[in-house]
Amino acid sequence: MVIYFQHMAKGRAKSKPSPKASRRVATSGDIEVSTYLEIAKEISGEQPAAAKEAVPSGEREAIIVIDFGSQYSLLIARRVRECQVYCELVSADTPWEKIAPLNPKGFILSGGPGSVYETNAPMTPAYIYESRLPVLGICYGMQVITHQMGGQVMPGTKREYGHALLHLGGVDSPLFANVPQSTAVWMSHGDKIETMPPDFNVLAYTDNSPFAAIGNDKNIFGLQFHPEVIHTPEGKTILKNFIYRICGCQGNWTMGNFIQDSLTKIQKEVGKGKVISALSGGVDSSVVSTVIHRAIGDQITCIFVNHGMLRREEVERTFNTFRLNMGMNIVYVDASERFLDHLKGVTDPETKRKIIGEEFINVFEEEAKKIGKVDFLAQGTLYPDVIESASSGSTAAAKIKSHHNVGGLPATMTLKLLEPLRYLFKDEVRQVGLELGLPEEMVWRQPFPGPGLAIRIIGEVTKEKLEILRAADWVVMNEIKKAKLYRQLWQSFAILTDVHSVGVMGDYRTYGYLVAVRAVTSDDAMTADWSRLPYDVLARISNRIVNEVPEVNRVVYDITSKPPSTIEWE
Ligand code: XMP
Repeated sequence: MVIYFQHMAKGRAKSKPSPKASRRVATSGDIEVSTYLEIAKEISGEQPAAAKEAVPSGEREAIIVIDFGSQYSLLIARRVRECQVYCELVSADTPWEKIAPLNPKGFILSGGPGSVYETNAPMTPAYIYESRLPVLGICYGMQVITHQMGGQVMPGTKREYGHALLHLGGVDSPLFANVPQSTAVWMSHGDKIETMPPDFNVLAYTDNSPFAAIGNDKNIFGLQFHPEVIHTPEGKTILKNFIYRICGCQGNWTMGNFIQDSLTKIQKEVGKGKVISALSGGVDSSVVSTVIHRAIGDQITCIFVNHGMLRREEVERTFNTFRLNMGMNIVYVDASERFLDHLKGVTDPETKRKIIGEEFINVFEEEAKKIGKVDFLAQGTLYPDVIESASSGSTAAAKIKSHHNVGGLPATMTLKLLEPLRYLFKDEVRQVGLELGLPEEMVWRQPFPGPGLAIRIIGEVTKEKLEILRAADWVVMNEIKKAKLYRQLWQSFAILTDVHSVGVMGDYRTYGYLVAVRAVTSDDAMTADWSRLPYDVLARISNRIVNEVPEVNRVVYDITSKPPSTIEWE
């Protein structure tokens, strides 16, 4: 097998870099890079526990994280939810009126890049202290508590970054119940506490930080280290202690309870109205359509547009799952000929995207019109999208994520949005999907781009090329799944290049297509690393493709990371 270096120039317009865009790929051994990657991997977190025994649904309780801008803030929320307690991330200027209905049982103040002495440094809103609910300040959050309650924070002369050994000492606290006397913790701070506020006690210390953990008898605590990252092995115990022993939470955030609550909410919101959704077979659109269907039955119609660029068996599987197994109302439109017609002679990647995007909207609108009066458009917006759009200044509602992602759904449609998953993390969505009876292969499907195979065929898209690529892609998927690598890879697929090369088969000389195989690991697609697939898996993929796809006589493996490459080839 030949190793193929991909250095193709990309014509694709790059989207606005998000704060995450600065994350680097694991090309260096430096500890910061590997930490980011490990933390990033952890963002998806553990699987939310499927409720084995009935958990009281009762009134939903919440822990509120005040986000001071730390890269770990979402991770804190994720960790709390892993403890089966609902958690939301809010900015420091959120008014109490917005928080009270969430039934807060305690607050966590996140870390942040700032210093309490900077002008406009964000502070803890007064209502948090006035509420008398427990407060846990982490890193910057601890410094804010210290600053506001009469202690002293000093600019650190040198940044403390990395592992430290924490020793329990001073006063015993339920915050450290079941934590060993000495344990590793992860530090990442510049400023440090010089003097504790009055009435605070030291709960734990490290060699460099005499005030590594502090607390008072009003249940206000500060941690200099980060309990939310995996480098603090007892971090979860500490968070759990805070949530259960100090805030007194019951733990009623389960996906079963979420589904029950959602059904009532959807029924109330939709009333007798009609909903449409664009079904793509991806996890978000599948779960959103299924949960709405569970709530309002045939008041939802799913429009499934087959643009002809889907993978082998994808249409049948999606259709069977929803129509036959779930009994959902599906409008299936086979528009593949129409899309192929529009793509005739087109080789530029961006033009392909544009054509597919526009045509998708045309087909979707045509079909929606046939349904008659519709009131709501279902969207698979998730919690990280909501947080990202809130922090980027636009309102969450303004950022409409299209699950088909091929240019957005019709701007002219004056429909209300129905977004039942907007408070869920991706793993929670998967769990909801499983609890709703969706097949595992759908719930765990790797991301697949809206324009589909069209951007994995270099050059003009034709029916013949689509068939070749489908056959090759089938082999890649099959072998990756057999090797049990599918879930740990962000994406794995085949690309049909426009290169032909000479080969030999029996006594014949061949001149066949070159297929490339791409398999990457990533946490959010902003950066990606090529996967070090075992040689025997690569060998099987290569052998099977050249044996099973007669038009292909050469297979190469793409060993470039993103950046400088992108995940897709076009
Ligand atoms: P790149 O190739 O930019 O891809 O590294 C990053 C992620 O986005 C997916 N992708 C798309 N998804 N429409 C989509 O819905 C598109 O036009 C598109 N282009 C890339 C890609 O599969 C990867 O997960």
